Amino acid sequence: MLGIQRLKKVLNIFSSGVAIDLGTANTLVYVHGKGIVLNEPSVVAIAEIHGKKQVIAVGSEAKQMLGRTPGQIQAIRPLRDGVIADFDVADEMIKRFVQKALGHKTMSRPVIVICVPSGSTAVERRAIQDAADNSRARKVFLIEEPMAAAIGAGLPVNEASGSMVVDIGGGTTEVAVISLGGIVYARSIRVGGDKMDEAIISYVRKNHNLLIGEASAERIKKAIAAASVPTEGEGLIIPVKGRDLVNGVPKEITVTERQIAEALSDPVAQIVEAVKYALENVSPEVAADIVDKGIMLTGGGALLRRLDNVLRDATGLPVSVAENALQCVALGCGEAVERIGKFENVLTSMY
Ligand SMILES: Nc1ncnc2c1ncn2[C@@H]1O[C@H](COP(=O)(O)OP(=O)(O)OP(=O)(O)O)[C@@H](O)[C@H]1O
Ligand SMILES: [Mg+2]
Repeated sequence: MLGIQRLKKVLNIFSSGVAIDLGTANTLVYVHGKGIVLNEPSVVAIAEIHGKKQVIAVGSEAKQMLGRTPGQIQAIRPLRDGVIADFDVADEMIKRFVQKALGHKTMSRPVIVICVPSGSTAVERRAIQDAADNSRARKVFLIEEPMAAAIGAGLPVNEASGSMVVDIGGGTTEVAVISLGGIVYARSIRVGGDKMDEAIISYVRKNHNLLIGEASAERIKKAIAAASVPTEGEGLIIPVKGRDLVNGVPKEITVTERQIAEALSDPVAQIVEAVKYALENVSPEVAADIVDKGIMLTGGGALLRRLDNVLRDATGLPVSVAENALQCVALGCGEAVERIGKFENVLTSMY
């Protein structure tokens, strides 16, 4: 039905296979035969010029504008919680990223493999497929995000043995177990890097009466955050600037690793719970496989320091952080494009 044989031929002739990791925080584009050629924040800046909305920047350039735009310009993140929240803007963003990745001169229409969160509804999947379709695709295939993450992390997805992958992105954490090329367990919770940033914002507001933006919270997280408090002392320290809520003027304070770890205790606990719940709900055979092979962490959230230790303590299992954690999904989607025959069973289509 999907015409995989014919597509293999098309891919070989035109070499125009494109894989997209459409993430809440970052979008990566992989081009057949080249690898990852684009890695940009999922942000679009739009201006209202003579009553008409126009895209003025996408990616890194647009992210710089988040929270800093004058009245007539808006910097938008078209994805929230792993799914498309603003279809027109997401559509435009994908079009531009694909164009940039392929170069303007290309005439051929690519076959696109794009990931969808495992918990997404049919409507949400169709929205992602339609958005990819609109970027002049010849044919679009969907791949479950945790499947792509597992392939990208080098897990043996086609073997008759369960592999557990936990992909912690900006919008969602997906916990999945994969065996024989299929997903035997998957659960997605709407907790990830964004919820951690929100927790930092609310901690700083409550404890320091200081209002900080999303970008500052993310900066603090990347610089000093950890999933558990330091064994002793306050740990790392970082200055933070924002607006004083008492007298309304800009102010600088310092926050510590211990404070930020405490601020993150809730999102971290939710991730731990999701992993424990998964372990309790897989078959005994699969549980036995996971005891041997452990748990693989992927996605930007996997870089949160000591998260692997926290999960190891909570489960008693080996936990590893994938090499290239931020790129696993794109590499996995890319692998599916490169070897469409081998991974035919993991690709689906809404049409
Ligand atoms: N060193 C780090 N420590 C903690 N978090 C980090 C670190 N580096 C990146 N992140 C966070 O990882 C998130 C981005 O990860 P990733 O690119 O995997 O998400 P995404 O694929 O865009 O989102 P999703 O899969 O949920 O749609 C951001 O929230 C970012 O702040
Ligand atoms: Mg992701």
